[in-house]
Amino acid sequence: MAITGIKGFNDILPGEVEKWQRIEATARRVFEIYGFSEIRVPIMEKTELFSRSIGDATDIVEKEMYSFTDKGENRVTLRPEGTAGVMRSFIEQKLHVLDPVTKLYYMGPMFRYERPQKGRYRQFHQIGAEVVGVTNPRIDAQVLIMLCHFFQELGLTEPTLQINSLGCPECRPLYRAALKEYLEQRREELCDDCRRRMETNPLRALDCKVPGCGVATKDAPSVLDHLCQGCDDHFAAVRRHLDVTKTPYSVNHRMVRGLDYYTRTTFELVTGLLGSQSAVAAGGRYDGLIEELGGPKLPGIGFAMGVERVALLLSGEGFARVPDLFIAAHGEAAGDEAFRLMTLLQGEGFRVELDYEGKSLKSQMRRADKLGARFTLIIGEDELATGQGMLKAMADGSQVALPLAASPLAAALSCS
Ligand code: HAM
Repeated sequence: MAITGIKGFNDILPGEVEKWQRIEATARRVFEIYGFSEIRVPIMEKTELFSRSIGDATDIVEKEMYSFTDKGENRVTLRPEGTAGVMRSFIEQKLHVLDPVTKLYYMGPMFRYERPQKGRYRQFHQIGAEVVGVTNPRIDAQVLIMLCHFFQELGLTEPTLQINSLGCPECRPLYRAALKEYLEQRREELCDDCRRRMETNPLRALDCKVPGCGVATKDAPSVLDHLCQGCDDHFAAVRRHLDVTKTPYSVNHRMVRGLDYYTRTTFELVTGLLGSQSAVAAGGRYDGLIEELGGPKLPGIGFAMGVERVALLLSGEGFARVPDLFIAAHGEAAGDEAFRLMTLLQGEGFRVELDYEGKSLKSQMRRADKLGARFTLIIGEDELATGQGMLKAMADGSQVALPLAASPLAAALSCS
């Protein structure tokens, strides 16, 4: 019996992969405009890195990590997200010494043992960006503007931006206490998970998908009413910069994040088009994380998008690479000539296809059609004898006679 892949781990096949390449290329292009450089870090780290940064009481660390003991008795984990590894590297490589402001982006696979469904997989891919070293709220706005710029470049009107502030170690405990008190009064209406979370992580109750919990927390106190002056001013400044730059957003005071490292600004880009997997990208500020991981006291902010989810939003669009030219040949000598011309044109950067197996002309033309070639050229005995062929534009059927040589063909292919 053939061996199948692992549940929740997907193949990305030709036809689909072109969409991914476009997403990746757009991210690189846009992020580099804003001064970000790529960083590549390992996909496996010490387990402790993730439990310390993401937080022991989160779903990710409690139940979703691919962790194991390697042959040297080390506890290691396939990364469930990118920020922790990038910050580990930032600290270890002392990147702040090179520049007080560090802007990094990354892309690659992440692993979470979640229940797979549309838009949610066990191996999924993120493209993320992180800025270290800036406290000023202008950077929060800039990161959001860059993310919106990226989606605009892809021609997407979905997703839309939602922002919130989760406060800081000074004001969040007060909010937690107020929320806990509110939840205590509704203990009976909450699901078992939320009753347990009330002790460890009460904010998660706001995010619970169980309908009863949604009703019970409807009038829960808002984090935004509990911000200290510093956090309140910071959030107001972020909103002001978004307003001034005409960046559309809405404030969602119920937004909580599934990772514990966040402080102040948090955000999600959400869509109604992907069922329950509504977050296409998400992130926020993490001013205490670098110090928590043993690094210098430096603030950070960033986000990651789920590439599978972005690709689903682009799903109506075809990105398959079509050949510029299909050369159909009749006979062995014509096949050799077709091969020679193809090689010359490929050397000049044109996508050229032909038939390798000596099939009938009719079947070659069917394949040209199927591939969506922009032009076709038929080479048979006559063409070989005269050194001339007819280049046919498939869009309108128009034909032009050309010498069988690379430069006139290249000129004809590139001027349309
Ligand atoms: P996150 O919200 O856990 O944040 O994930 C970011 C994005 O990754 C989500 O919005 C979603 O699009 C995608 N994603 C997450 N899990 C899955 C899954 N199982 N299948 C498919 N896509 C998924 C983080 O990971 C933070 N590190 C973001 C960040 C960077 N915050 C600051 N810097």
